[in-house]
Amino acid sequence: MRDLDFSTFVSQYENYPEFRQKLLDETLKPLSVCVEVGVFRGEFSELILTYNPLKLTLVDSWLCSENSGDTLFAAEMGKCSQEFFDKWESETREKFKNDKRVEIVKKFSGDAAKGFEDQSLDWVYIDAAHHYNAVLNDLNSWMPKVKTGGYLCGDDFVVKKDHYFGVIEAVHEFLGLDKITTSANIKHERFGDLHYEVMGAQFYIHKLDI
Ligand SMILES: C[S@@+](CC[C@H](N)C(=O)[O-])C[C@H]1O[C@@H](n2cnc3c(N)ncnc32)[C@H](O)[C@@H]1O
Repeated sequence: MRDLDFSTFVSQYENYPEFRQKLLDETLKPLSVCVEVGVFRGEFSELILTYNPLKLTLVDSWLCSENSGDTLFAAEMGKCSQEFFDKWESETREKFKNDKRVEIVKKFSGDAAKGFEDQSLDWVYIDAAHHYNAVLNDLNSWMPKVKTGGYLCGDDFVVKKDHYFGVIEAVHEFLGLDKITTSANIKHERFGDLHYEVMGAQFYIHKLDI
């Protein structure tokens, strides 16, 4: 993990909904093939659907397990009771049961990614487990699935004091950035030309089509 200097970095958690909307405005084109990784109770999924995607796959393990890499979030949300996860899963299934654009995949993120062809997705949003290894795995698992011209986005680009979020570190490791950076054009050794941008607590990585 890179040793980033956070001393001058201020997390932008204010105006959170506004920046989520801005992210969608800038990255989500109509009739896109989309995946949301980490769905919880489908609240952001509802907003994604207002952008008229062709397809939205919702990936969530809904499992309170160490394998989900999500014990921090689980503890925060429900003291890691499986009952809560079951409730969130059924709420989500009920909410989208009549929407033909929505497919629900109950799997761990890395396993779910294996079910997609490389270069098959226009837009992916990563918001599952938030610690360093999990986010880095998610970036490495999902980026190959994004088409040239498509976007890999994610949530919680923040420094949190109460518990450990590793999103910032994982994004920097993935992009090969040594200093805190919120906008850059990058030549990635594996994924070619990328544009990277942070807005509030949201980030996106655009696989440039040049
Ligand atoms: C922060 S919530 C998602 C919030 C949702 N994107 C929203 O904005 O409304 C995180 C979700 O990720 C799921 N999750 C955690 N680790 C996961 C993993 N390894 N694979 C799939 N889902 C995971 C949890 O079950 C939880 O529902």
